[in-house]
This record gives sequence, structure tokens and C-alpha cells, in this order.
Amino acid sequence: MNKDIVCIGAGYIGGPTMAVIAKMNPSRNVWVVDINAARIDAWNSENLPIYEPGLDEVVREVRGRNLFFSTDIEGCIRKCDVIFVGVNTPTKMFGRGAGRASDLQFWEATARNIAKWAESDKIVIEKSTLPVRTAAAMSAILNTHSSLKFTVLSNPEFLAEGTAIRDLLAPDRVLIGGPSDDAGAAAVRELVDIYAGEGDRWVPRERILTTNVWSAELTKLAANAMLAQRVSSVNALSQLCEATGANISEVARVMGADSRIGSKFLKAGPGFGGSCFKKDVLNLVYLCESFGLRDAAAYWNQVIAMNDSQQRRIVERLFHALFNTIANKKIAIFGFAFKADTGDTRETPSGAVVRMLHEEHARLAITDPKALNNAARDLADLDGIELVEDPYAAATEADAVIVMTDWKQYPGLDWKRIYDSMRKPALVFDTRNCLDAADLRKTGFNVLSIGR
Ligand code: UDX
Repeated sequence: MNKDIVCIGAGYIGGPTMAVIAKMNPSRNVWVVDINAARIDAWNSENLPIYEPGLDEVVREVRGRNLFFSTDIEGCIRKCDVIFVGVNTPTKMFGRGAGRASDLQFWEATARNIAKWAESDKIVIEKSTLPVRTAAAMSAILNTHSSLKFTVLSNPEFLAEGTAIRDLLAPDRVLIGGPSDDAGAAAVRELVDIYAGEGDRWVPRERILTTNVWSAELTKLAANAMLAQRVSSVNALSQLCEATGANISEVARVMGADSRIGSKFLKAGPGFGGSCFKKDVLNLVYLCESFGLRDAAAYWNQVIAMNDSQQRRIVERLFHALFNTIANKKIAIFGFAFKADTGDTRETPSGAVVRMLHEEHARLAITDPKALNNAARDLADLDGIELVEDPYAAATEADAVIVMTDWKQYPGLDWKRIYDSMRKPALVFDTRNCLDAADLRKTGFNVLSIGR
């Protein structure tokens, strides 16, 4: 009999990941539970709480068949032998490690609930990104007061937002860290089977990599830190290109042709955002510091400092292009999501730029196809910000348009119409290098790009 599954936490892991696990394992029941009833109601409705291409279809296929969303955490812990923990681990905002370490209180509370309610042995799987050696702490909490056996595995999630379903259906690799004793090995086999899918129709077994628990925990932080570092490196080079007349797209294309470097993740832009990169790099910094590795900590810290610099530089360049005064000028912000194809605005570069421009007393109109609700929430403390669905309305009478997110509809807009509606001289600052700058110049725009 296949063991049933529960996931605690109805976010990115409880949603897309569990939906695909249920799809590829049709004879297992998968429950997703959360203390937040509104969130569970949303998962049970036609309006899912996460926008992700392809997600609606998968949820429609499996919800009510073998995927269920519920608030009955206790009941689901009792009846399921495989427990994924996908609760959020935000950056801690108080005490030791404030601003850098992960806040583990939700994780620990969850572990204690599992210990309290379980009536049989369980496999407990860390899916949230956690600092190295958390599994050991959890195992200690779980296995102290009980005659039951809890085996803790680490199984970090590598999906990227906007491509979550594609990443889940065909991942580069799946990583499972587990203890080497018999119970550990059996638990790892169980989880490998889940990812291989029924009839081995999901992840090819050679792509399911197993390591010890600590390596798995560290790998997630390391992989995200390396990716963030690439973005900061290419952005640092883009600044030099701007100063010297070289073109970052050309430099990146040729660098990327070296197979040791590779062509992906070399796009200069407004810096990285999203829920993971900053948090994970800060976590790595904190880990290095706590082991006395000051040089390593300073190295990773610089990845964040470079990211902040890139956003400050956008505002500085805009300031100079607008004749050193932005006060009372209307600036249209095209895109508030941290990247295209998501409504997510966590750590979005657009937010940082908007705040700096607001300090300069700009009049701001923000447009975005998916992120305006989040923008309203994130910017609730700022007055006089206009949020508009229609990019043409956002640009009307503006002195400048700043493209902050590479939404695919932006290159296809009628830029002549936008030009005609703006105050002159009209400026476009394309921080994603996604528009045709030569064409815009022909239309009459002044154009700023990144790294050229
Ligand atoms: C990332 C990791 O890719 C994923 O494996 C992990 O599980 C979670 O964190 P995500 O945050 O969804 O995923 O987005 P990603 O596509 O990786 O982009 C992160 C940020 O870097 C975005 O702000 C993006 O615009 C920026 N970026 C990415 C660049 O500026 N240049 C690039 O070349 C690539």
C-alpha cells in the first residue's frame, strides 16, 4: 500500500509541488493543510491564491481526486505517514541574527505538533529552505518524548516562480538528504519512489540525487547564492560597460559561449528579487559568521551590496537624465513583479526604485498585469501613488517610463502612441533591455538601457 502524504503549509510547496506530486502518484492521497483558513478556502476555489502558468490545469485535474486542501492539521498528521513541512521561514527580525538568520519558530511549532499528534512512525521531510543542521534539531525535538520513530529528510525545492509547473514536471535534479541508518535509507527509498512517480513516469531515477542531510540543507543555500552571485557579477560588469562604451549583452553572450561558464543567468538588469535569493544569501552570511569565517561572510555579503547598488544606480542615472530634478515629474513604472509571469513582489527591485523615487517627490504611476494588488499592499505607507491596469494611461503626461519587469507584452505596446501622450523630452529607461532601443530613438525617445 502506498503511504498517504500531507504537506503542512499551503504556499508554493503546498500548492504547485503537492499538486504535481498528486498528479504523478494517483494512488496516493495528498493533503495540504494550513492554519490559515482563508488560504485553504482560496485553494478550494476557482481563484487560486498563487498565479503560476499551468497551475490551474493541474489543480483542476487532481483536486478532489487525490489532492485535498484542509485546515484539519491534527487529523491529517494522524492519518498520513509521509509529512512534508513547507511552512515559511522568513528572515528573523529580532534578537540574534536579526535581519539575516531564518526565523524557525513556525518550523519548531510544527515539529512539536507532529510529535504531539502522531500515533505511528513518520517520515518528516523538510521542504522549506532551512539553515544547515536544522534537521538534526528537529529530529531531536521529534524523537525525545515518544516511542515512535520519526525520520527527518531534507528535500529542498528548486523550482523558480513563473515556471514552477514546468520545473516540477521536468526538474534538472531532485535532491534528497537522509540519515544513513536503516530507517533513514528506507525513508529515502520511499521519497525516491514518490519522485520517480507511479510506473516510473516522472523524474528519471538518475536525476534523483541523494546525499547526507547536511549536504542537502547546504546545497539549497549554495545553489541560490551561486545564482545570485552570477546576477551581481554581471550587473557589476554592466556598470563598467556603461562607463566605457562596451555592451553587456555582447560581453555576456561571448562569456556564456564558454561551456565552463554557460549562457544562463547572465542577464544584466535591475538586480535580483524574489523570496529566495536575498534571504538565502543572508542566511549563508550568517552561517559563515557563526563559524568565524569572516572573509567568506564578507564575500557573500557583497553579492547583496552589489544588488542594492544596481538599484541606486538606476535612480541616479534617471536623475541625471531628467536634468537633476525629479520632484513633481510624473514617472510611469512598467512592471512591479520581481520578474515576468508572476504576481509575486517580494524583494522586487521595482519596489526599491519606487521608494527612492518617492523620496525625490516624483509623481508615480505603476502598471503591472499581475502584481497591482500586491503593489497596493506593499506601498500602502506611501501617499499619492497611482496604480493603473492600463500602461497607456500610466504613461500619459509622464516625463519618463521605466521598464522594471520584462513582461512580454511590453515590447509589443504601441510606443508611438505612448510617445505622443508623454511630456517632452520623453525618456524610456529599459532596465531589462527588452525593448528595441534603436526603434524607440527613431520614434523620438531618449533611451537609457542597462550596460550599454
Ligand atoms: C530562484 C531559483 O532560481 C530557484 O531555483 C529557487 O528554488 C528559488 O529562487 P525565483 O526566485 O523564482 O527562483 O526566480 P529566478 O528566475 O531564479 O530569478 C531570480 C531573480 O534574478 C529575478 O529577480 C530575476 O529577474 C533575476 N535575474 C535572473 C537576473 O536579473 N538575471 C538573470 O540572468 C537571471
